[in-house]
Amino acid sequence: MAYSEKVIDHYTNPRNVGTLNKDSKNVGTGLVGAPECGDVMRLQIEVNDDNVITDAKFKTFGCGSAIASSSLATEWLKGKSIDEALAIDNMDLVEELALPPVKIHCSVLAEDAIKSAINDYRVKNGLEALELPKSH
Ligand code: FES
Ligand code: FES
Repeated sequence: MAYSEKVIDHYTNPRNVGTLNKDSKNVGTGLVGAPECGDVMRLQIEVNDDNVITDAKFKTFGCGSAIASSSLATEWLKGKSIDEALAIDNMDLVEELALPPVKIHCSVLAEDAIKSAINDYRVKNGLEALELPKSH
């Protein structure tokens, strides 16, 4: 499989790998898995009082496309409002990384992880839970 240069860049030099304090009220944690391939992605966001994402971290045990998708997602998340973050579509990741069709599901994992992290943050702060997509 030929990976695009952007995938190779994020795969060899992933941005924002790490962990935020999942017990903090300002941190939302998303943990999603792909039953088809067994890959697992954890993505966390830190949100300030103005509903702006000030930090994002991830850890992905998965293929190069999943690592690149989550690395890029954390870059995009920083500085965005929660609403802007919810609008991130997996196809935006696919386009930016030039993922081939067989790797689209890996970007879906990243979108699911973002939504799951936002949901965790919302529930922790007494807001209504999101309707999360059924994990694929
Ligand atoms: Fe499992 Fe890409 S093949 S996430
Ligand atoms: Fe790889 Fe869905 S099977 S992300």
